[in-house]
Amino acid sequence: MTVAEALRHRRSYSSVGSTAPTTRQLLPLIEAAGSVADHGSLHPWRIIALRGSARDTVGRAMADAAGLEGSSAEKLAAKLRRAPLVLAVVVSPKASHKVPDWEQEAVASGVAHALSLVLDEAGWGVMWRTGLQTRAKAVHKVHKLGPHERLLGWLYVGAKPPSKSGRRTTISAKDYLSAL
Ligand SMILES: Cc1cc2nc3c(=O)[nH]c(=O)nc-3n(C[C@H](O)[C@H](O)[C@H](O)COP(=O)(O)O)c2cc1C
Repeated sequence: MTVAEALRHRRSYSSVGSTAPTTRQLLPLIEAAGSVADHGSLHPWRIIALRGSARDTVGRAMADAAGLEGSSAEKLAAKLRRAPLVLAVVVSPKASHKVPDWEQEAVASGVAHALSLVLDEAGWGVMWRTGLQTRAKAVHKVHKLGPHERLLGWLYVGAKPPSKSGRRTTISAKDYLSAL
């Protein structure tokens, strides 16, 4: 499959099965995703894998951040259980005189997109999710992020369902290309 074909075929899966890639399976995919263009090769990102009860810990922090209690809190926290593996994508900017913060965030975003793509190509179902609490203090703290770090969201990963209904509408590329 060419890269263009992989991109055209990639779909997000809001519902995935209960198996997930092991750390051993994940590492080469992260290595591949980490080869995106990176000004100064700063590698200004990292991934935190949440499995098992770690998902609940993060889910509860999200509920706290949203000011929820009781069953509403449980409902929000349970959302992290939608996939057996949840990968938190972290922008981890490095001190640099030549590469501003926004460029480093662009690199981390590129890694997240590339990781979604290679996971999909490897046969896993993936969906990038965020939420209003993504950059809340409690959520930052539960991920043990440094003061300079922030989240870009989470890739929810699990077994790809056998089929996906509906087709993504193809963009009309000419609407997105102009010349000066
Ligand atoms: C940064 C980012 C955050 C996203 N957050 C959410 C989200 O919280 N909930 C959601 O339903 N989709 C979210 N999406 C969109 C889905 O990941 C997905 O792209 C969308 O459902 C379209 O499906 P497709 O990727 O198959 O075209 C997000 C995408 C990105 C890039």
